[in-house]
Amino acid sequence: MFKENPNRAKRFTLQHDGLLLDFSKNRITEETMDLLIDLANEVQLKQAIQAMFTGAKINETENRSVLHTALRKSTDNNLEIDGLHISEAVENVLQKVEKFSNKITTGNWKGFSGKRISDIVNIGIGGSDLGPAMVCEALTPYKIKNINTHFVSNIDSSHLTETIKKVNAETTLFVISSKTFTTQETMTNAWSARKWFLESATEADIAKHFVAVSTNKAATSQFGIEESNVFEFWDWVGGRYSVWSAIGLTVACGLGFENFKKFLDGAASMDKHFLDKPFRENIPVILALISIWYVNFFNCTSEAILPYDQYFDKLVDYLQQVIMESNGKSVDRNGERVSYNTCPVIWGAPGTNSQHSFFQLLHQGSQVIPCDFITTMKSQNPLGDHKRKLLANFFGQTRALMVGKSREEVSEEMQRMGFTDSEIERIGPHKVFEGNRPSNSIIIEELNPYSLGMLLAMYEHKVFVQGIVWNIFSFDQWGVELGKQIAKLILPALENDNEISSDGSTQSLISHFKNIAKQ
Ligand code: F6P
Repeated sequence: MFKENPNRAKRFTLQHDGLLLDFSKNRITEETMDLLIDLANEVQLKQAIQAMFTGAKINETENRSVLHTALRKSTDNNLEIDGLHISEAVENVLQKVEKFSNKITTGNWKGFSGKRISDIVNIGIGGSDLGPAMVCEALTPYKIKNINTHFVSNIDSSHLTETIKKVNAETTLFVISSKTFTTQETMTNAWSARKWFLESATEADIAKHFVAVSTNKAATSQFGIEESNVFEFWDWVGGRYSVWSAIGLTVACGLGFENFKKFLDGAASMDKHFLDKPFRENIPVILALISIWYVNFFNCTSEAILPYDQYFDKLVDYLQQVIMESNGKSVDRNGERVSYNTCPVIWGAPGTNSQHSFFQLLHQGSQVIPCDFITTMKSQNPLGDHKRKLLANFFGQTRALMVGKSREEVSEEMQRMGFTDSEIERIGPHKVFEGNRPSNSIIIEELNPYSLGMLLAMYEHKVFVQGIVWNIFSFDQWGVELGKQIAKLILPALENDNEISSDGSTQSLISHFKNIAKQ
């Protein structure tokens, strides 16, 4: 296709505010794109986007608006939902985050012994962990000196235990992040952290060392957190979209409020692009449609995300929740079982490391796995020729996936290398690359708070578009409930001799635990 059309790369590249998407290495033609855009029009995507940005209750199964875009000031200033003036409410909390984070970063907020805060331990899980943890990692070069951020999420006590080994109660601030303030993992970790803290301090000191980010004020006060130390958000912010809300408090404290603000501004820039651009020039829309092309027309069941920047170590974890918790659904908006595939499995890891683990499968596995390659043009840590080598690998891999290597090319190469005919016959087939394996190249100039905000908002809007085309509700997550409920039923059976009714396998696993616990 590149040979036939020298203009192809240009035609299938889009840019916005320093972010570049080259989608030319896909199995698409102009006609494919026209037809996919017809599909977007047919499902009334434009109206759906408007409905989200104007606060319609599009999260129908929970009767909620979906307004994470309001957190970055991308909605109408006069928007009111259920009597709440949205932009005023957002601004008030943002100002509170600003004041508080400034006190932490300047050292004006003192712990119980009069020392400044040196360590922030964010206790949360899912969206109340993955977002802030990923952002703090990605923006490591922007970290405020002398403030370390830590993230505890797993109910496995090793997570909290290993974290508190690194900190001192006198100089640690715990940020208990939970939209509901009922999540078992977070509450268990929070109570254990409180107990550990009280080994060196008094109840009265809690106010200086525990703050909460939540929509549930009654529960935060029951935990003993002063009202002034509670940072509010609202039910129209989905958990996996909450890093833009006060859930970003740890980010603001760890990187400084100015950087948090730039992060929001970057997302706002992508919101505007998404709202204003015709579909053919609209980056999230194009990404969504290309993904639908592979899922529904080529039966691809997974997509790989491959960031070529070490600071993006946690990006895939974060995007897995954003994408799969949103669109991992099989019932449509009319309550019917869908008759087509929806969300692919999202997986991946940073390059170049992943080249030495699973790229074998990307190049020669039996399935076609569309890839998003992501990188930055400038290094935060220029060192010799590292960056050029990193980019050569990025560019080389996307090209290799596309062009592959034919049987003839393999034979010629082996002949040149002196292999015998029988060796070429025997080994040759294993060296063939089918090629025609698709990828998007997503490039930002440099990784900074603004460009990170843009990148994340780009994926959020991609998810939204796909939900509309697949006719599913993207903003609830009922699929996480059943396992949680059953775990609650099982807990008493692990704690004492209570019998619970379950199946033979579960029963025998419970007995196995009890037998070992007794030894
Ligand atoms: O996994 C389910 C979920 O509800 C996520 O959507 C959410 O991000 C996470 O749990 C944490 O919830 P909360 O912030 O209420 O503790």
